[in-house]
Amino acid sequence: MPAPVRPPDVTVRSQSRDDVEGLGALYLVSYPQGVAAVDLEDAVEEMEGVFEGEYGTPVEAASLVVETADGALVGCVQTVTSPPWEGIPAVPFVIELFVHPDHRRRGLGSLLLLTAAQACHDQGWESIALNVQEDTAGEATHLYRGLGFAEITPVAAGEG
Ligand SMILES: CC(C)(COP(=O)(O)OP(=O)(O)OC[C@H]1O[C@@H](n2cnc3c(N)ncnc32)[C@H](O)[C@@H]1OP(=O)(O)O)[C@@H](O)C(=O)NCCC(=O)NCCS
Repeated sequence: MPAPVRPPDVTVRSQSRDDVEGLGALYLVSYPQGVAAVDLEDAVEEMEGVFEGEYGTPVEAASLVVETADGALVGCVQTVTSPPWEGIPAVPFVIELFVHPDHRRRGLGSLLLLTAAQACHDQGWESIALNVQEDTAGEATHLYRGLGFAEITPVAAGEG
């Protein structure tokens, strides 16, 4: 994968529990209405669930936010191990990637994903995986293919 490129006006850091409210607001605004969370409370709950380990054990070094100089969160990637779903390769799994609509096409999604991938590599992992939902596939698929992700079909329970 290519090396991450960071625009000079933003910083990247690991997410923390103190970010839960800000992450909820960003999560809500990043997806089309009704696709991810129904309202802010729901979005914040989703983000709390990530920290609680509801979607797997968070990989701190690969669960990152992009912050502007004034402290606004504008992007996030969240990575776990042991997610609670069938058929997923036993490697770090990206459960979320989202960038504020006003900050898209500046390379922030790529920056987050590549920085997370680098962090996993530094921990000894050879690959990472993610899932693409049909209703959000558009721009994300362009991004993932461009970074070199290969498509695999999930293995059903009992197979392989
Ligand atoms: C997917 C998402 C994270 C991309 O974030 P981003 O910061 O805009 O991504 P980047 O700027 O790094 O884009 C990198 C490349 O991906 C491709 N890409 C990104 N958005 C695209 C779009 N809307 N249409 C076509 N290609 C796109 C382009 O090749 C782009 O490079 P370019 O701008 O030089 O052409 C963002 O659109 C988003 O948050 N979407 C809503 C949430 C979502 O669907 N998350 C993924 C869940 S699977």
